[in-house]
Amino acid sequence: KNIAVVMGGYSSEYKISLKSGNVVCENLNKKKYNVFPIHIFKDKWVLVQNEIEYPVNRHDFSVVVNEEKIKFDCVFNAIHGTPGEDGKLLAYFELLNIPHTSAPSYQMALTFNKRDCLSVLKPYGIKMANSYYLNLGDTVDENKIIEKVGLPCFVKANKAGSSFGITKVHKKEDLKHGIEVAFKEDDEIIIESFLDGTEVSVGVINYKGKIIVLPITEIVSENDFFDYEAKYLGKSQEITPAQLSKTEEKRVNEVAKRVYEVLQMTGFSRSEYILIDGEPHILEMNTVPGMTKASLIPQQAEIAGISLEDLFGNAIEMALN
Ligand code: DAL
Ligand code: MG
Repeated sequence: KNIAVVMGGYSSEYKISLKSGNVVCENLNKKKYNVFPIHIFKDKWVLVQNEIEYPVNRHDFSVVVNEEKIKFDCVFNAIHGTPGEDGKLLAYFELLNIPHTSAPSYQMALTFNKRDCLSVLKPYGIKMANSYYLNLGDTVDENKIIEKVGLPCFVKANKAGSSFGITKVHKKEDLKHGIEVAFKEDDEIIIESFLDGTEVSVGVINYKGKIIVLPITEIVSENDFFDYEAKYLGKSQEITPAQLSKTEEKRVNEVAKRVYEVLQMTGFSRSEYILIDGEPHILEMNTVPGMTKASLIPQQAEIAGISLEDLFGNAIEMALN
């Protein structure tokens, strides 16, 4: 089978995506597949083989290499951010009838939008921070914002990842700057109350046709929060399995699985929670979780006894079924 691994993307996360994509390729190469790394950038979509770039025909997502036309049986989506994680590219594959490893494009678009995803989960009783939303051009009433979310608070780009566009604001004077930073990443932002508790990250995946929750990771950041540096440059401790009580572990597993089901997810997911008095409060869900060597899902899978080649091979098998 010919497998296209799409990576790169149009967002600030493209470098992380290239790393994730390469880890996926390395591991799928150990399986029986023909693996084709495809770089998706705004100005070019190309297959990269032995440092040669072959343009992708966007009408049918095929590539010609040495006069041979290559078509793909399945796409592995390793693009964090747009157009991979927000569903756009997946809608295109769906129109072309090419199976892909992610959830359907609608689920991807919904979950990539922090505000919309949280608003779907709320009526199901999933706990979360208080929040305030702003669209570009809205009047900013700082007093009203602080009245709603308190201090400290988090200002986030509504549709972004890897902590791009996130600021923890401690003082009212710093709110304006946080808002500016977030608007650089997205034209919608979300401002949330600070949740004081234990941060945990939970992978939920469809493995061999069953929804499974991977071992939970506890995150202890050396920085003010789990920012880019803490995520990728070692400035955090990531403890897997998290040292939780049996009751806490059970509750986190229950909520994480419930969230996956409510959102009608398939494929990969990793969601983040703050545990307060034993109750998980959701921050967000990532549907193209990082697969770099510093990322959490690879660590969680290893502890669950699932090798990366099996993890990625399973995603292909599930997509083809
Ligand atoms: N957005 C990054 C890649 C993650 O969730 O792992
Ligand atoms: Mg994220």
